[in-house]
Formats: sequence, structure tokens, C-alpha cells
Amino acid sequence: MEYSQRTTHLRNNGLDDTLVLALLNLTDETFAHCTRVHDLAMTLGIQMGLSTRELAKLRLGALLHDIGKQFIPPEVLHKQTPLTPEEWEQMEMHSVHGWKLVSSLELDDEVERIILEHHVWANGQGGYPQSSYGIPCILTQITTVADVVDAMTSDRPYRPALSFATCIDHLEEFQGTRFNRDIVRVFKKISSRGVNGTWQS
Ligand SMILES: [Fe+2]
Ligand SMILES: [Fe+2]
Repeated sequence: MEYSQRTTHLRNNGLDDTLVLALLNLTDETFAHCTRVHDLAMTLGIQMGLSTRELAKLRLGALLHDIGKQFIPPEVLHKQTPLTPEEWEQMEMHSVHGWKLVSSLELDDEVERIILEHHVWANGQGGYPQSSYGIPCILTQITTVADVVDAMTSDRPYRPALSFATCIDHLEEFQGTRFNRDIVRVFKKISSRGVNGTWQS
């Protein structure tokens, strides 16, 4: 999406200029990923019966969840071979970088927690950053499922997209630990109905 189109799209979604500028700094790939995660997270949130207020927080948090990737060196972000342990450490800092970026904007606490904790496991005992271990809020847990679905079913610099079946296997294997069991169940229900064909292959 061109910069001018991105700006219009974001302003139409009610984002203020500071957040629009922050999102404009993302690469096309990361911006597209954030948009798809937003779309899937909102579908999950609606299906789970979240209130309008909760959905508004989810909308912003899911859209901004990887905002910190603008601080990851391009040679790490776009590397076409597996990352070294040191490079993974750099990559994993994106959630802390993003949280620091938005912490001066007086966003809702749960929006900030989506950005900081979307890679923390649903049982609060794994993932990153380790300093945030503890059960993430439900909005974060929804974003986590939407994030992993999009990451697995999209081409990455270091591997082609994985199949939808592989993604479902992964969600089922780690439901109750990394992923919230109820959210996985809702995702399976809506994807089997073909609510959004991009999740099916
Ligand atoms: Fe992330
Ligand atoms: Fe992400």
C-alpha cells in the first residue's frame, strides 16, 4: 500500500497523526501483516462477544502490535536464512521497543499490554519478554492467536507460507499453554465456515 493510501486508510480508522506517523515507518510487509492481524483479531473478538469498548481497544492494539519492528535492523528483519541466537534476541526486542514508543501517548493500558505481551504465552509461563510473565489479558491472547495464524500462513523471508492444516495442528498442539483454548476453538469454528478465505488453503 502506498504511503498516501496508508495515511488515508489509517485516518479513516480514526488514528491520530502520531500513530499514523509511527505506522508509516513500518515496512510494507510488516504493515500488511499488522493490517491482517487486526482484521482477524476483530473477527475473533466480535465472534467472542466482546463489548464495543473492548473491541475499540483490540482494534488499536492489534494494528499496533508490531510497531516496534521499525527499530529492528533491516539486515535482521529481512534475513533470508535462519536467525542466529543473537539476531533472535534483537528481533524479540520489538515488543519492548513498541511498548516504549507508545508509552508516552497515554493509550489505554490494555492497548499498551497487547504491544508488550503479544508473544507471552496464554498460561503466562513462556514466550517473551520474560519480565512480563503472567497471564496476558484476553485482548492480548486474541491478538496472539491472530498473529501466529498470519505469521504461519504467510511467506516469511526465511521460508514460504505453511499450510492451513499445519497452522491448525500448531494451535491444537499448544492450546492451553501458548494459546487460549477458547480462542483456538473460535478460530477453528470461523475458519471452517470460511469467514475469510485467506486463512484457508
Ligand atoms: Fe510481534
Ligand atoms: Fe506480528
